[in-house]
Amino acid sequence: MKHFNKKLTFFIKTFGCAMNENDSEKLSGMLKALGYVEENDINKVGLVIFNTCSIRENADDRVFGNIGAIKTVKKTNPDLILAVCGCMMQQPEIVKKIVRTYPQVDLVFGTHNIHQFPELLNNFLVNGQRMIEVWEDSDAIVEDLPTDRRYPFKAFVTIMNGCNNFCTYCIVPYTRGREVSRQPGKIFNEVQALVADGCVEVTLLGQNVNSYGNDLEKDVNFANLLRKLNTIENLKRIRFMTSHPKDLTDAVIEAIADCDKVCNYIHLPIQSGSTRILKAMNRKYTQEDIINRVQKMKDRIPDVAITTDIIVGFPGETEEDFMETLKVIKACKFDSAFTFLYSIRTGTPAATMENQIPEEIKHDRINRCLEVLHQIGHDINQNYQDRVVEVLVEETSRNNPDRMTGRTRTGKLVIFEGDLSDIGKQVMIKITDAKTFSLDGKKIEQEETDGRINPYDDPVPENS
Ligand code: 5AD
Ligand code: SF4
Repeated sequence: MKHFNKKLTFFIKTFGCAMNENDSEKLSGMLKALGYVEENDINKVGLVIFNTCSIRENADDRVFGNIGAIKTVKKTNPDLILAVCGCMMQQPEIVKKIVRTYPQVDLVFGTHNIHQFPELLNNFLVNGQRMIEVWEDSDAIVEDLPTDRRYPFKAFVTIMNGCNNFCTYCIVPYTRGREVSRQPGKIFNEVQALVADGCVEVTLLGQNVNSYGNDLEKDVNFANLLRKLNTIENLKRIRFMTSHPKDLTDAVIEAIADCDKVCNYIHLPIQSGSTRILKAMNRKYTQEDIINRVQKMKDRIPDVAITTDIIVGFPGETEEDFMETLKVIKACKFDSAFTFLYSIRTGTPAATMENQIPEEIKHDRINRCLEVLHQIGHDINQNYQDRVVEVLVEETSRNNPDRMTGRTRTGKLVIFEGDLSDIGKQVMIKITDAKTFSLDGKKIEQEETDGRINPYDDPVPENS
């Protein structure tokens, strides 16, 4: 048996999105329950896990680079166990490639069977034989896996897995399977337990949270879930991602507006502003729908911040189509956006579409897109100058140990002078320098605001 009598240490590297991070917290939770200890030095550790992402080609490349590097580490540390899991493993050709060309990989499992990890690991330890076990799909979410949370004051809560949308560019429906929602009672209990454990902010996770409950009983939907979670005492902030514009109903917008704990922030990926391209992407909404949804949110939710995802260079995207995207960005005034060069994903319909766009055109468009986005983001942030905002303090600033960072309810990064005792607290900060990507501010004593916590970041008048 390998590993016998050795200190059980592990290191997890997570690629990709918050869903993967949440899965890694579960892998870490399971390992700690088995007595393993986390260790940051990959050269000394007993077990390395790469939790992989497949969303774009460069994500795949990075994973293979990391797997390649383990070969060298194994020369000095031959007992090292390498486990690889996550979205890439749901693609049979990737698993084949690993089996054929990467003998340093000892364990492979997928997104649907992370709960089997301890069993697979144990089998490997006993037999010393490679374990490859990937489930194609699953129709239930395994409940009650131990979770090793990164922060005591905030947590991810997965409310559903999978995606039914099959956007033509996207690999996710193939790697995460069909939508499966958790029972609302299970989610409620989990959030309540987190709050009892000191957590003040939860982020509800799903590929498309707006279609939560479509596979459950009639009255179970995302709007009702938000309303229900909003009743939990001592919970301060509810966030969620990701929303699909086609499913963002008035009922969801009203729930966000009505529920004081639900943050006035939404991540709403539009992908493109051209109705023609949106159709080719199979997004099921038009340019007018986007503008209408955004307007509705701005009308109903005070001071709402809206961020988005944009893909440039989808097959067949003309200069006119791209100009439509710029037009929508300007009309909607997004607070910020993640912008992506379209990346071919083998097996998706767009991969074989004609008129793939040359890389230099994609790069030119992304640069033009960023220029517009940065100007809008800068202008929006100027509205924060001299305002008092509620900030949930998260950590020490990476650039300056005397400064702390946290987020407003609208998701803005705020940097201020403080100390470790602020972490996990909600503090009131007066913004002294509004920049394009962050807000510098000064902590103010609660009395200066009459003790009022202002959930919508409204300015608190100086002399009131
Ligand atoms: N190429 C580029 N970007 C993609 N995304 C998803 N698939 C692709 C792809 N093939 C982007 C979308 C999505 C985000 C998570 O990743 O914008 O919202
Ligand atoms: Fe991918 Fe579209 Fe599903 Fe989002 S909604 S995960 S972009 S298929």
